[in-house]
Amino acid sequence: MTILHIDTSINGENSASRQLTKSLVEQLKGSQWGETVVYRDLAANPLPHLTLDQFADSSVLDEFFVADTIVIGAPMYNFTLPTQLKAWIDRIVIAGKTFQYGANGPEGLAKGKRVIIALARGGFYNDSSPAASLEHLETYLRGIFNFIGIEPEFVVADGLSIGPEQRDSSIKQALGDTVRLAA
Ligand SMILES: Cc1cc2nc3c(=O)[nH]c(=O)nc-3n(C[C@H](O)[C@H](O)[C@H](O)COP(=O)(O)O)c2cc1C
Repeated sequence: MTILHIDTSINGENSASRQLTKSLVEQLKGSQWGETVVYRDLAANPLPHLTLDQFADSSVLDEFFVADTIVIGAPMYNFTLPTQLKAWIDRIVIAGKTFQYGANGPEGLAKGKRVIIALARGGFYNDSSPAASLEHLETYLRGIFNFIGIEPEFVVADGLSIGPEQRDSSIKQALGDTVRLAA
């Protein structure tokens, strides 16, 4: 069993999402979820924006197919996902490989993988918050993974830009969630 560990934050050591993916992978490694860990840092080694030529290179898709569990760190940038992560998604959402259109509409072909996403957001986006309509990170990631046949699980650290106390308590609570999720 293989875990694919993906980080995307540009914040290096200060990144909350990196702390959370590290904790998730530490818990999952050696369990039923994975003996081997493949690490991809999309901030340190970004994939280029998609071009037609790049459809010929299936290395990112192959790496995705080999993984049984995928752990992704996803900070919110400008109300959505980092472009680094979008470039990765552009390489795994491929007609005929991870989805197809049939008589009943679109069908996901990547069923059976476990995807856990660590979200880190500066503000709050719950349904009752004034910013709820600007939430295009969790909704997008849930939608795109559903489209290819996967129901992602989320660990969430919100309100990270509100102040140091809120940041500490959000990260602490989310780290606790990583332990529960991985158990
Ligand atoms: C370029 C940039 C854009 C951001 N845009 C938003 C935003 O639209 N909404 C928000 O709630 N937080 C925003 N933030 C705050 C980050 O989501 C927050 O700092 C989070 O902790 C980043 O994840 P990280 O700690 O893993 O780097 C932004 C941060 C950066 C650096």
